[in-house]
Amino acid sequence: MRDVIEVHELVKRYGSMTAVDGVSFSVAEGEVVGMLGPNGAGKTTTIEVLEGIRAPTGGQVRVLGHDPARGGRHLKTQVGVVLQSAGIDGALTVAETIALYAGFYRHRRPVAEALAEVDLEECAGRRVAALSGGQRRRVDLALALAARPRVLFLDEPTTGLDPAARRRTWDVIAGLRGQGVAVLLTSHYLEEVQRLADRVVVMHLGRLVAEGPPDRLGGGSELASRITFRRTFTDELPPGPWERLAAAGTTVVLATEDATEAMHALTSWAVDRGVELEGLELRRPSLEDRYLELTEGGHDR
Ligand SMILES: Nc1ncnc2c1ncn2[C@@H]1O[C@H](COP(=O)(O)OP(=O)(O)OP(=O)(O)O)[C@@H](O)[C@H]1O
Ligand SMILES: [Mg+2]
Repeated sequence: MRDVIEVHELVKRYGSMTAVDGVSFSVAEGEVVGMLGPNGAGKTTTIEVLEGIRAPTGGQVRVLGHDPARGGRHLKTQVGVVLQSAGIDGALTVAETIALYAGFYRHRRPVAEALAEVDLEECAGRRVAALSGGQRRRVDLALALAARPRVLFLDEPTTGLDPAARRRTWDVIAGLRGQGVAVLLTSHYLEEVQRLADRVVVMHLGRLVAEGPPDRLGGGSELASRITFRRTFTDELPPGPWERLAAAGTTVVLATEDATEAMHALTSWAVDRGVELEGLELRRPSLEDRYLELTEGGHDR
């Protein structure tokens, strides 16, 4: 798939403060990339440069092959944006706002369809100022969808949404990916990124500290999967692709880099012997475990 978002050695300084410090990554058509990082890591700044709102101090960025600062109308009509804090006019109704916004685009989505995508049909005639925080966030998403974008920047799109609305948004984003839209998403909800992202990039203090698929981010042996069970039998364990860790009482803990092989070796051995592995559990380190390790010592700057 073709890369449609390209970031090469991006640097952005605000005076003496370096918000983004040499970041490189790309996003392909039909790919969802999740950008994680503590508050102040430089995520919004990176996205704003990609949207053409801010000029970079150094490095290059390309969106659909264009410099977003100069891409003009041609580029803007193919890019959808949900800003971290959007300033939409509260005096218009929801439907008027979407119609106004969609009017800038040639390949627009019908207002009713954009409303349906975010479950806001009932709010169509209400003034935006009278909506709840989560409803407003959904208007933001509907605006980004109105454009039938090829590239979508979503800066914390589900912050403030209730669990049902968040899941609905996930479905919308997954559907867009299926249509070939490239999505760059930031979120502080690791579960959201785990679900949605094909690839994750982690920013910390302006730098990119890790990149990879959400379930294999960062790697490292201390992050190997753990197999646990209680030893209620006397048979010696078979050899297998694991390391036995110290554990209290009858609990056995095995660390393995190859959970599938290890579970197979262990359970087929147990079935052959007629041994019951009581309380058998496999725990994979979560994206959150890895994320917290990668961003240890992370503070607002
Ligand atoms: N307009 C600005 N002028 C000066 N400094 C800024 C400006 N905008 C952002 N910064 C600083 O740049 C750094 C990165 O901010 P940015 O908004 O990109 O972080 P973020 O990763 O999006 O954080 P969050 O998770 O809180 O949204 C922060 O230290 C912030 O204070
Ligand atoms: Mg931000």
